[in-house]
Amino acid sequence: MRHLMNPLDFSVEELDKLFALADDIKKDPAKYAHKCDGKILATCFYEPSTRTRLSFESAMTRLGGRVIGFSDAASSSASKGESVSDTIRIISCYADICAMRHPKEGAPMVAAEKSLIPVINAGDGGHQHPTQTLTDLQTIRSLHGDLNNFTIGLCGDLKFGRTVHSLINALVRYEGIKFIFISPEELKIPDYVTDMLREKGIPFQEVIRLEDVMPELDLLYMTRVQKERFFNEEDYVRLKDFYVLTPEKMELAKPDMLVLHPLPRVNEISVEIDDDPRAAYFKQAQFGVYVRMALILTLLGLA
Ligand code: CP
Repeated sequence: MRHLMNPLDFSVEELDKLFALADDIKKDPAKYAHKCDGKILATCFYEPSTRTRLSFESAMTRLGGRVIGFSDAASSSASKGESVSDTIRIISCYADICAMRHPKEGAPMVAAEKSLIPVINAGDGGHQHPTQTLTDLQTIRSLHGDLNNFTIGLCGDLKFGRTVHSLINALVRYEGIKFIFISPEELKIPDYVTDMLREKGIPFQEVIRLEDVMPELDLLYMTRVQKERFFNEEDYVRLKDFYVLTPEKMELAKPDMLVLHPLPRVNEISVEIDDDPRAAYFKQAQFGVYVRMALILTLLGLA
C-alpha cells in the first residue's frame, strides 16, 4: 500500500507514467468512467478548500466511484477531541482511499502510519501540498512543453507557502532550472530551501522587486499572502498587497511567459490579466482533475 505525503514519494519515472496517464484520461475520459465502480474516496478536510477537495471529489466521481467526508473539522468528531490516528482507523472501515487536509504539519503522515487505506496529503499547514505540485508539473509539462531548462519566478509568500515548498522540492530533480525568489524580507524563502539549492549547485536569486526580473522569466508562479498563517492582523494588512500583477508589469514579460497560481487569488493578480493568453491559472485548475484521477487509479492499483 502506498501513500502520497510529498512529491518526492514518486520517482521522476513514476511521475512521467502518472502524467502520461493524466494525458490519456484527458484525451479519452469515457475509457476511465467505470474504473472505480464500487470504490469510495473519503475527503477529510480540517481546513477550508475549494479546488483540492472538489477536484478530488470530481476526479473520483468521473472514475465511477463515490465520495464521503467532511469539509470542516467542526462538523467531525475532531471537535469532540478525537485524534487523527483514531479518525483514520475509522475512515479505513468506510472508504478505500482518503485525501486529508490539516492545518498541522505532519498530520496526514500520522494518519498514514495508522491507516489501512492509501492516504493522500491534500495540504498540511505550511509544509507540503503534493497534489498541487502534481497539478503544477502537469500544467508546465503540457503548456510550456518541458519540465527542464527554464527560469521560474516564485512570487509572494515564500515563507508559509506550502505550494511553493512542494514545487521546489519536485523541480530540483529536473535539469537546467533556475529559481528566482521574489518576496518581501518578512516572507522570504526559508534557509533550509536555499541551503538545499546551494548543496545541489542549483542556481537561484532572491529579489524584492518583481519588475526587476520579469524579462528573465519563462514561468511566473504567483502566490497569495495567506492571512491564516499570520499571528497578527497588522503584519498581514501591511504585506497583503505587496505584489499586484498588472497589465503594465506583464508588458515587461516574455511574449510566451506563463503565469501560474495555485489559487485562490485575492489581489495579487489583477483580473485584467485573466484574458491575457499567458494566464494559465484556470487551465491549471482543470489539469488538477486529470492528475488526481491518475493518482487515485495509481494508488488503488487500477492504473
Ligand atoms: N490550490 C488550493 O489548494 O486551493 P484550495 O485551498 O481551494 O484547495
